[in-house]
Amino acid sequence: MLDVAVWRGGDECRLQHFAVPRRETQTVLDVVTHIQRHLDPTLAYRFACRVGMCGSCAMTVNGVARWTCRTHVAEVARDERLELRPLNHLPVVKDLVADMREFFDKWARARGQFSPSSKRTDDFARVPPDTRERRAVDAAIECIGCAVCYASCDTVAWNPDYLGPAALNRAWTLANDVRDSAQSERLAAVAGDAGCLACHTHVSCAERCPKQISPTASIAGLKRLVSLAALKGEL
Ligand code: SF4
Ligand code: SF4
Ligand code: FES
Repeated sequence: MLDVAVWRGGDECRLQHFAVPRRETQTVLDVVTHIQRHLDPTLAYRFACRVGMCGSCAMTVNGVARWTCRTHVAEVARDERLELRPLNHLPVVKDLVADMREFFDKWARARGQFSPSSKRTDDFARVPPDTRERRAVDAAIECIGCAVCYASCDTVAWNPDYLGPAALNRAWTLANDVRDSAQSERLAAVAGDAGCLACHTHVSCAERCPKQISPTASIAGLKRLVSLAALKGEL
């Protein structure tokens, strides 16, 4: 049996213990699902795809932010014990469900929307895979919006206004998108005190990202672009 301590409540919580049968190849999400289906149907948690695509199942597992549908109990349990809490640095809706509004609002603040430079009737843009811009985009584009990096970033803890690794990583993919027409607005959006210059390069985001993305590298790229624009007097 696993001894699973689960955060119950909102920002104020108590840890409730459940005994969950141990199974081979069991994931942390399987454990939470067992609790909700067999032990306490009032437990709130979030998931959708179960295969590492949707980014909705992230939680704090034994103190570390992780996607739970692809995290096996065998990798993370300590003496057959798990402690499950919602993601750090976000308000709690209930139990294991973090309120993601602030996280995605910051994507919008970082100008994370694509602004097309061509019209619907224009031919498809061709962006060769071996160009510098395309390689930069390809290295960072597979983000699933899980907020594991955000919950692992100390700068977010110290400066709640900080846009954070995921929003800045998104901005970097668009900064390298040759089809986008809002580059100067985006650079201005990521240049302020809450933007890329606030990153202290602690690299926790890159170490924890389950998609092996390095927001640290993306943020370093944004810092270069912001510095160049400042030198040219464009900011
Ligand atoms: S590298 Fe920057 S964004 Fe990533 S965890 Fe460290 S401070 Fe946060
Ligand atoms: S960069 Fe990685 S850790 Fe951060 S939201 Fe995207 S997939 Fe999740
Ligand atoms: S449930 Fe979709 S990524 Fe885990």
